[in-house]
Amino acid sequence: MTEISTRAADPFSHLHEENFEQAFLKPELTADQMILTAGRPCQSLDGDWNFVLDPFQEGLRQRWFDHDDLAIGQWVVPRDYDNGEWQTAKVPGCWNLAVPEWFHYEGSAWYSRNVDVEPTGPEERLFLRVGAASGRCRVFLNGIFLGLHKGGSTPFFVEITGAVLTGANRLMLEVDNSRRADAVPMHHFDWFNYGGLFRSVEIYRVPDCFIRDFRISLAQDGGGIDVSVCLSRQEDDICRVEIEGLGSFDVPVRGGVGRLRSACLPERWSPGNPRLYRVSAACGNDRIEDRVGFRKLAVRGHEILLNDAPLELRGICVHEDDKETGRVTNEEDLRRRFAHVKELGGNAARLAHYPHHELAARIADEIGILLWQEIPVYWAIDFENPSTLADARNQLLEMIARDHNRASIILWGVGNENADTDARLSFMRELAVTAKTADPTRLTVAACLINRETFRIEDRLAEHLDVIGLNEYFGWYEPGYDNLTRLLENSEPDRPVLISETGADAVSGLHGGVGRLFTEERQADVLENQVRLTSGYSYVAGIFPWLLYDFRSQRRQTAHQRGWNRKGIVAEDKETRKLGFAALREAYAVCFTKGGDADGRS
Ligand code: GCU
Repeated sequence: MTEISTRAADPFSHLHEENFEQAFLKPELTADQMILTAGRPCQSLDGDWNFVLDPFQEGLRQRWFDHDDLAIGQWVVPRDYDNGEWQTAKVPGCWNLAVPEWFHYEGSAWYSRNVDVEPTGPEERLFLRVGAASGRCRVFLNGIFLGLHKGGSTPFFVEITGAVLTGANRLMLEVDNSRRADAVPMHHFDWFNYGGLFRSVEIYRVPDCFIRDFRISLAQDGGGIDVSVCLSRQEDDICRVEIEGLGSFDVPVRGGVGRLRSACLPERWSPGNPRLYRVSAACGNDRIEDRVGFRKLAVRGHEILLNDAPLELRGICVHEDDKETGRVTNEEDLRRRFAHVKELGGNAARLAHYPHHELAARIADEIGILLWQEIPVYWAIDFENPSTLADARNQLLEMIARDHNRASIILWGVGNENADTDARLSFMRELAVTAKTADPTRLTVAACLINRETFRIEDRLAEHLDVIGLNEYFGWYEPGYDNLTRLLENSEPDRPVLISETGADAVSGLHGGVGRLFTEERQADVLENQVRLTSGYSYVAGIFPWLLYDFRSQRRQTAHQRGWNRKGIVAEDKETRKLGFAALREAYAVCFTKGGDADGRS
């Protein structure tokens, strides 16, 4: 009698336990477990993984991760899962665009593959990094549940040193893009609910004591360079920092933490002069390196100051969305995106509505584009729910930890179009304070709504932000521009305002008078009026029209939209420019001209 593997003998024993998910909610994988990866080699796990959809969460109910490796032909009793050997899905990828039947799928899915890992030395540790997985992701290695991550756009790490076997290991990721009322974002949003492992999956091998975090930036008073180092162990050591062309210095580390201000005075980074320095940090057996720009940010009255000069943001919003690849982006896609921003005469981009791929900020550093990056605290979040706040706060800290050393990012956005209630105020004030505490070198913002009672740009949250974002759609959702002028005249904000969204849908190739909705002429007219009218107010420090490219949105179901939001000034092919593109470029050429050469006006 073939010995039945005990692990798979009773795959159905848990079948009717409805509280099956309770066993897989802790530990959560959070910002605390992140490690610095800049300049580190890694083992890539990208490519084809075994894959199955799992709408009934059978994988957790039957503990598919617990199965042995018996091939289906050797089974003595039947099972419902054979490690997904019969089909694959690409990593990184979105399942929605892989198979037509999976286009609208929302739920759990299982990625599985074998991973060969070289044995670790006594002084080595291994970390698995997932660049981004939609919604929730659970990690199982050799049948052991290692943790749950919430958040579809930030990286997460789990140490696998103790769980990895020499030779082949079975790695399984359960990815769940179900929309949830208590999630961040919650279950209603205006973009496509893609599912999958959107970014690379890798293994990092580091010394037993390694540099877990390294932050370097120009001091806020411009008087030198601030460095902070955090080791993985509470040890005393010396961290040697080298900045190409500026020399090197030692940062004393006590109890695993070190801070130092060096007197180095680097050339300032700006869109007009995107100067980057190669930086390295070495401590014990570990060494990391990065390319970093040094710049200074501040707010003075209604002005945003970059390197002590007033800045005007000629921006555009952009989703991380592609007709062919969904949420998966790459260097070519990102360079095309920023080339379009430059072609507009723009100097900024709002990465809506969630953290984009880390490569976006790296390329923006290199070519001189200013970025607003945000977490998806979008619309009617469950503001009364403490675990929702913890989720939002963690995604914020993960975003900051990942991109802290990117000069191009000047604004952390903590929310978008959230109705002003007491619960929302408390929730988002906490996020604004968290961002400022975690990163005093950047400005905080949220895309707020008009106060309809007073018809002014004002929001109780504003006093907790450095900059007020305002989403308004006069000319589209509200016909005419008289009320825009009324609003602008009526308002007396005490800090800079950015028009964080405005625009209009246009079907590429649909023409007709500006009086007709969805025509290219109407979109061009809205953009021209918006830039001309808003640029005339000294408290408006810039504008981010909505948006660069058409993008998928399941909630857009008119004959003109067919599952797409058509407010792009370029069609979804990311090539065909609508009349709105030229209109915005011309408007930028004549308006918003207060900024100096530092702002990258070519
Ligand atoms: C809102 C929202 C966007 C949305 C846009 C629109 O302002 O912030 O996410 O896509 O309006 O209506 O197109």
